[in-house]
Amino acid sequence: MTSTVVVGGFFGDEGKGKIISYLAIKDNPKVIVRGGAGPNAGHTIKDGDKVYKVRMLPSGFLNKDAKVMIGPGVVINPEVLQKEIDDFGVSGRAFIDKHCGVIEETHLARDSKGELKEKIGSTGSGTGPANADRAMRVLNLAKDFDSLSSIIVDVPAEVIYSKDKYENLLVEGTQGSFLSLWHGTYPFVTSKDVTASGICADIGLGPTKVDEVIVVFKSYVTRVGTGPLDKELSLEEAEKKGWSEFGTVTGRQRRAADFDFDLARRAIMLNGATQISITKLDVLFTDCAGKTSYNELSDDAKAFIKNIEDELNTPVTIIGTGPTVNDVIDRRS
Ligand code: IMP
Ligand code: MG
Repeated sequence: MTSTVVVGGFFGDEGKGKIISYLAIKDNPKVIVRGGAGPNAGHTIKDGDKVYKVRMLPSGFLNKDAKVMIGPGVVINPEVLQKEIDDFGVSGRAFIDKHCGVIEETHLARDSKGELKEKIGSTGSGTGPANADRAMRVLNLAKDFDSLSSIIVDVPAEVIYSKDKYENLLVEGTQGSFLSLWHGTYPFVTSKDVTASGICADIGLGPTKVDEVIVVFKSYVTRVGTGPLDKELSLEEAEKKGWSEFGTVTGRQRRAADFDFDLARRAIMLNGATQISITKLDVLFTDCAGKTSYNELSDDAKAFIKNIEDELNTPVTIIGTGPTVNDVIDRRS
């Protein structure tokens, strides 16, 4: 049985949510746990004709047999979390750690104006100011709120118990490697390290307990907010290619560029990737839409995948071919 950490390889919005929901169902982990910064993350998940947009809950909640948890390193917005628990029917199996930081009005106010909003293009979710307050040791934690007591568990203990009982464990990252406070395009980054090591620290999973690290790349690169984006396309060019996307949290139009091998190589290094997932292959190669077996892919699409494996010296195991959870080619043995 395997512990798998899934992280983004570019600037977030690689399609991790969809890959994670697929793994949540396919590998049937009993515990799915989320690290990362906070409700600045947005994942869109399509199940049949249902569309879920999550910012707080782990994206693996579609597996109704799994407990979904948020690690102590994450800051939560209790209102956003409660709404998602209610809207998506996850009550009774969604948990947080007593050390999760709590976003309050002051953090939302500080994130909605000034440098963070204007210079960095922050999501305005209060995540950065809350993490700043945590560094100053003045942030309130989940244990300080009676209203949260019914959903508090010891997340690191639950995680390791689940792993040691030889159950599959799924660990979700948020954002992407180059939004990392340590390794990204500082200062145009988020307020935490969001590479695999940082995500594991967020949930209290020690490095020797990790079996697989899947780095998710989209078939092209997108970025919301400010900061460098090499070989950025004009909005018209992006639209022509069908790469024009809008952010889940902010609704802002995402900037776009071709798949970037230099960034990808560095992401493989920073995360210690054992596998690669490529998403939105159907956007590059429309004839691949909805395919579920590698053999069905066109020669051009196969060449694209093969080139990534050769350049990055890492196997491409999971390929997204459409928006719904089952539009996936799974090449893991
Ligand atoms: P903050 O994390 O809200 O402080 O925003 C800092 C930068 O990270 C901005 O450029 C945001 O657009 C970006 N960012 C934060 N979270 C995400 C995410 O989940 N996907 C994409 N970009 C993000
Ligand atoms: Mg997103």
